[in-house]
Amino acid sequence: MKTFLILISTLFSSIFFFPEDSKINDFNPKSSLTDVLMTLGDKKPLHYTNKKDTAIIKQGLEIVTKGRTVSPSGKMSHLQSKYFTCIDCHNVLMEDPNLRKSDPDARLSYAVKKDIPFLSGTTFYGMVNREHWYNDDYQIKYGDLVKPAKDTLVNAIHLCTVECSQGRAFEKWELKAVMAYLYSIEYKLEDLKLTPEDYKKLNSYKKGEKNTALIKWLKTFYLQKSPATFLDPIPSDKREMGKNGNAENGKLIYDKSCMHCHATGRVTNFTLDQDKIDLKFLKKHMGGNKHYSLYTITRKGTYALPGYRPYMPNYTLERLSHQQLEDLAAYVNN
Ligand code: HEC
Ligand code: HEC
Repeated sequence: MKTFLILISTLFSSIFFFPEDSKINDFNPKSSLTDVLMTLGDKKPLHYTNKKDTAIIKQGLEIVTKGRTVSPSGKMSHLQSKYFTCIDCHNVLMEDPNLRKSDPDARLSYAVKKDIPFLSGTTFYGMVNREHWYNDDYQIKYGDLVKPAKDTLVNAIHLCTVECSQGRAFEKWELKAVMAYLYSIEYKLEDLKLTPEDYKKLNSYKKGEKNTALIKWLKTFYLQKSPATFLDPIPSDKREMGKNGNAENGKLIYDKSCMHCHATGRVTNFTLDQDKIDLKFLKKHMGGNKHYSLYTITRKGTYALPGYRPYMPNYTLERLSHQQLEDLAAYVNN
């Protein structure tokens, strides 16, 4: 009888307290970060889209990974670029184990663990959650060309389709599909690695009000922009190059990054593999300021030429550290 009463009273209280409980569950690990921020009263991003149509998301995925998809008229679309697809330079999975930092060392170990490439462009995962694009030295070096991209994701995409991909601008339906896809890979609360205490704090928000302090606090869990520092190649003594590098780590960079584009059949006619001949070429030209010296090519990249458009983007400090370049040099030396 006693147990029965307890049972009844628990049942009763859980029904009674249901509205309270449902608020506690408002935000959970699977919640979309954009939804959470908007519920907290943050303003809607300019590029906001709530298209959850799986067919449109799939179109976006195909445009990003293959450069083309079946258009609304039912025909296969023209390639966005003859030379590249977005994923030659950008990942689509999470690539930074800690979203508060842009740390190339942590990113490389994570890339090895997750078996994804290590690239010069930032990942599309969480791209819609950022607030600024083409930052720092991109703004300084390219000025007016990249200015419109700084606060507007759609403009950043437009810039990259034409300049980075050396292709055509997206048509309206393509842009819509790509945005829907990018929203399908936005951050979820679980990516921010919140503790149970953090969830409690978040769920104590005031409904229907602007929770300024909570919004600000939530945004400390991830970077709102990916920092970018351009470097001049270090003019160092040839005998010093790679001397303090870790060849094993260098091999990982060679495999996860250089080979992503230079393997046979990929984006360039200049193929590289683990072959001694290729490594010898790189070794022979390591020093000096020739455009193909290891130190110059990584920091400066190459430019698209009229008639032969594939080019190599430079690696900023945040995408390849000084030490990682030394590691690569050590691998090439051995
Ligand atoms: C040849 C390499 C390359 C290709 C191909 C390429 N990108 Fe990029 N993209 C870059 C680099 C390098 C940057 C600047 C670094 C960075 O990502 O922040 C960049 C930046 C961006 C940014 C701004 C990122 C940020 O956080 O500042 C967006 C958005 C973008 N690209 C979208 C695209 C899309 C969409 C495609 C495919 C149509 C594409 N890119 C193809 C190299 C490339
Ligand atoms: C996003 C694709 C991409 C990545 C990643 C990449 N490259 Fe390149 N690289 C190119 C393209 C495209 C060229 C242009 C050369 C050509 O096709 O003739 C090039 C050119 C070069 C050249 C000069 C060849 C010449 O004589 O013009 C060297 C050397 C080189 N890359 C080395 C590397 C190394 C080392 C890495 C890794 C740290 C690397 N590349 C990563 C695409 C890439």
